[in-house]
Amino acid sequence: MSGRLVLVTGGRSGIGAAVGAAVAAAGMRPLLCDLVAFPLEEPMAWQTPFDVSDEVAVTREVAAIEAECGPLAGLVNAAGILGRMQRPEKLRMEDWDREMAVDLRGTYLMCREVGSRMAARRMGSIVNIASVVAVSSAPVHSYGPAKAAVVNLTMTLAAEWGPSGVRVNAVSPGFTRTPALERGFASGVMEEKRMIDISALRRLVEPSEVGCAVAWLLGDGASAITGINLPVDAGFLCGVTWQAYGGLRGS
Ligand SMILES: NC(=O)c1ccc[n+]([C@@H]2O[C@H](COP(=O)([O-])OP(=O)(O)OC[C@H]3O[C@@H](n4cnc5c(N)ncnc54)[C@H](O)[C@@H]3O)[C@@H](O)[C@H]2O)c1
Repeated sequence: MSGRLVLVTGGRSGIGAAVGAAVAAAGMRPLLCDLVAFPLEEPMAWQTPFDVSDEVAVTREVAAIEAECGPLAGLVNAAGILGRMQRPEKLRMEDWDREMAVDLRGTYLMCREVGSRMAARRMGSIVNIASVVAVSSAPVHSYGPAKAAVVNLTMTLAAEWGPSGVRVNAVSPGFTRTPALERGFASGVMEEKRMIDISALRRLVEPSEVGCAVAWLLGDGASAITGINLPVDAGFLCGVTWQAYGGLRGS
């Protein structure tokens, strides 16, 4: 993958931005895109903002990106919105629809547009950002099902495009210190200490750690790996069930 072009959605912030840095450090060429405009001096950015859930915009921008920058060898779907923690009777259907649209439909549309081009060229690697919520449960009634569907979509597309030489994998971050999570802490809805207490490594995940895992999955070091979902969670999934037994032991 050395020198090859990798498109990263949601690249303006958090995990997407960290993926861009990790991809560059691994010798690939990141191209960041987002719904929000980038500073004009950002050298790695596609300067036309677009919404990944908008079919017309995705089709138009992917074509424009390849025409201007060359063929995409990698795609990372990091654009997403975190779920609203509301009871089903309180969660408005327009919020449910918007989370599904960005987190699932957007991932599908980007995969469809970029993956089919990769398949025609018989090479490429895609990483979808899911979540530990995809394989557990949480009071986020649209976000959780959307992320579970992203994991299933990842396996489905891996089987679809594997014969054409395109790999498709997912990375599921645990609680990762990004602006989105910081907003959750600031609002009082989420509590940092509680998240740390249930994770085996007793800490949050740093965005750069997700970035490194994504860069590795994109690259030739992972050339036989497709259709997997890799948790990068500081031991959240293995630690959380210990709550039923009184919690993790002290170090
Ligand atoms: N932070 C966490 O703890 C955590 C945990 C698990 C999974 N994730 C997932 O990681 C991804 C990134 O999350 P983050 O924490 O970095 O969030 P973030 O809010 O810091 O960054 C998300 C980026 O996506 C962009 N975006 C949002 N909607 C978009 C749209 N419709 N089209 C294009 N771009 C859009 C935003 O502008 C922003 O730049 C999301 O898919 C999220 O679900 C995050």
